Amino acid sequence: MVRIVVDGSVAVADAVELRSIYRAVFPDHPDDRAWREEVWDRHTARPGFRLARAYADAGLVGFAYGYTGDLGQWWTDPVTSVLEPEVARTWLGGHFEVVSLGVLAAARGRGTGRLLMQALVRGLPQERLLLQTTADPADPARRLYASEGWQVLGPGAGDHTVVMGRRGARRPSSTSGD
Ligand SMILES: CC(C)(COP(=O)(O)OP(=O)(O)OC[C@H]1O[C@@H](n2cnc3c(N)ncnc32)[C@H](O)[C@@H]1OP(=O)(O)O)[C@@H](O)C(=O)NCCC(=O)NCCS
Repeated sequence: MVRIVVDGSVAVADAVELRSIYRAVFPDHPDDRAWREEVWDRHTARPGFRLARAYADAGLVGFAYGYTGDLGQWWTDPVTSVLEPEVARTWLGGHFEVVSLGVLAAARGRGTGRLLMQALVRGLPQERLLLQTTADPADPARRLYASEGWQVLGPGAGDHTVVMGRRGARRPSSTSGD
């Protein structure tokens, strides 16, 4: 049985707990201190930060987090230049950006990733939700996002990546027909 906990802010100890999962799941940012200073501390300070954690009997097995993305940020700007201008104009800025989702390999395939994703975006105030992921449609994460209603909007900022988007629960009054 997995327990999902969602928070809008984090304590110092959370970085240590999250780091162990991040290291096990993601190959980027191998240096603990650099990850902490360049990624975690910056991201957790962003407006709209939200973290979902999944706990099993053995402890933390997965996490997902995001924040309110805006123009001028490191991901938003390069993506603006590769997406179709109309897509970029209507989707980027003020969106909720899913930055990271990871589940320990030993805990995968039991619905935890889906529970984390659902908990992370549930009740968000943002009208537009965005993420970047692999261009491989057979990838587990891509399949998960597609099955949760995310659609490919165009190429991503990195090689072999795409941007996926989803409308939030709160709809813009001017685009109620889409
Ligand atoms: C993506 C990830 C979070 C999924 O976690 P998970 O707990 O295994 O996911 P779930 O068990 O909730 O599965 C949800 C859906 O994902 C897809 N999926 C999961 N594992 C899959 C696999 N091995 N092959 C294909 N699709 C898979 C399926 O659509 C699945 O739904 P279904 O069970 O109804 O078929 C996990 O594989 C992971 O941490 N991967 C490495 C990190 C990563 O790629 N993160 C995303 C970066 S954008």
